[in-house]
Amino acid sequence: MTLTLLGIESSCDDTAAAVVRGTDVLASVVYGQTALHADFGGVVPEIAARAHAEKLDLCIDEALQKSGLTLPKLDGIAVTAGPGLIGGVLSGVMCAKGLSAATGLPLIGVNHLAGHALTPRLTDQVPYPYLMLLVSGGHCQFLIVESHDTYQRIGGTIDDAPGEAFDKTARILGLPQPGGSSVEKAAASGYAKRFNLPRPLLNQPGCDMSFSGLKTAILRARDGVVAEKGGLTPQDQADLCAGFQSAVTDVLIEKTRRAMEAYLVMNPEKRSFAIAGGVAANGAIRNGLKQVCARLDTDFVAPPLNLCTDNAAMIAYAGIEMMQTGHRDDLTLSARPRWPLDQRAAPMLGSGKKGAKA
Ligand code: KG4
Ligand code: ZN
Repeated sequence: MTLTLLGIESSCDDTAAAVVRGTDVLASVVYGQTALHADFGGVVPEIAARAHAEKLDLCIDEALQKSGLTLPKLDGIAVTAGPGLIGGVLSGVMCAKGLSAATGLPLIGVNHLAGHALTPRLTDQVPYPYLMLLVSGGHCQFLIVESHDTYQRIGGTIDDAPGEAFDKTARILGLPQPGGSSVEKAAASGYAKRFNLPRPLLNQPGCDMSFSGLKTAILRARDGVVAEKGGLTPQDQADLCAGFQSAVTDVLIEKTRRAMEAYLVMNPEKRSFAIAGGVAANGAIRNGLKQVCARLDTDFVAPPLNLCTDNAAMIAYAGIEMMQTGHRDDLTLSARPRWPLDQRAAPMLGSGKKGAKA
């Protein structure tokens, strides 16, 4: 039976609601909060939580209207129950519980990372298993996706996520937030080799990564230019951005190549690699990963950008897979700020704007 679910997402700085039937996205609405946090140089958890609480019902209403359905026509309600900023996750979970209690619809608590990890199945019906790189402002990990509730993490960042490093680089260089797109734009007219920037952990074995040293290197390089010339010209900014982007790209390409080789030894017949997360928008990174896949004769799946970044369609879809195998939550469902997908893996070090890098 094809299930139709409402999805609700509020774990970071996007308030989102969606209605998904099977693999058809009937409606997906995202209310971003970029302007609310712009003055603070990052997401302020309290402001985010209040904005979610204010906007969730409007967002859900809009998604239902766009889908042409009403709550009684749905089969269930899926909500992000973690990991993420606790105030935001709580806003979504409480809202979903209220709707479930009022309508009698089943409630499904979804792991936000599972939402990202299952997106290639929503968009491209990729069969299990496949290798996935989840790379965003809060996450960076290689996952072997075996089923909707079985994941093997084979590497990840030990400190910052790349999106966080892009955002910090933009801040250091006086470019607008969110930093990823402004750094990419500036990098287009920059000379990547002008500054000698590190490729952290590149020569260490395994698929773990580190990006915080790179951010410090950008800070030092900027200070060097400012000390010499008294400020940064647009060309200095462009060269620093190009150098930074090329360092992140080199690390992601090499670690992806290793992760894929390790994955293919275990699954030689299942040659699929997918990316998700906001950093997947970056042209240089995307092309680099595409080439790695071509060299290893592996399919490259990149969901459309609106489903790569935070959204609620991925939560509704993950909820559908969970419900199909009999999963149900009840009103005791709690918000989990930390919730690793791979329960067997050792916890990652560090924590970013989204909390745990689990
Ligand atoms: O997946 P997402 O929307 O939210 C999180 O879960 O974090 O990702 C947002 C992140 C931000 O850090 C943003 O700077 C980064 O993705 N990003 C990019 C680009 N567009 C967005 N990073 C590099 N290049 C881009 N073009
Ligand atoms: Zn996310």
